[in-house]
Amino acid sequence: MSEVTIKTREDGPLLVSGPVTLTDHAGNKYEIASPNIALCRCGHTSKRPFCDGTHKTTGWVAKELAPPATQQQQQQ
Ligand code: FES
Repeated sequence: MSEVTIKTREDGPLLVSGPVTLTDHAGNKYEIASPNIALCRCGHTSKRPFCDGTHKTTGWVAKELAPPATQQQQQQ
């Protein structure tokens, strides 16, 4: 079985690696050509829901960082 990994990037997208199915709000599937995709968090991309790198040129900064994994696990 293949594993899916999602990695947070500081002031950047969510990096998804592995075999995933991505659908829109209506259940329509996006064609995914690569096993690695980046999902936009900033809202400035022109390729929603995928990151197109625009976050770098807009100076977008995430309001908060995801807590470290160990802290997150302690809260569960
Ligand atoms: S996170 Fe990269 S364009 Fe939004």
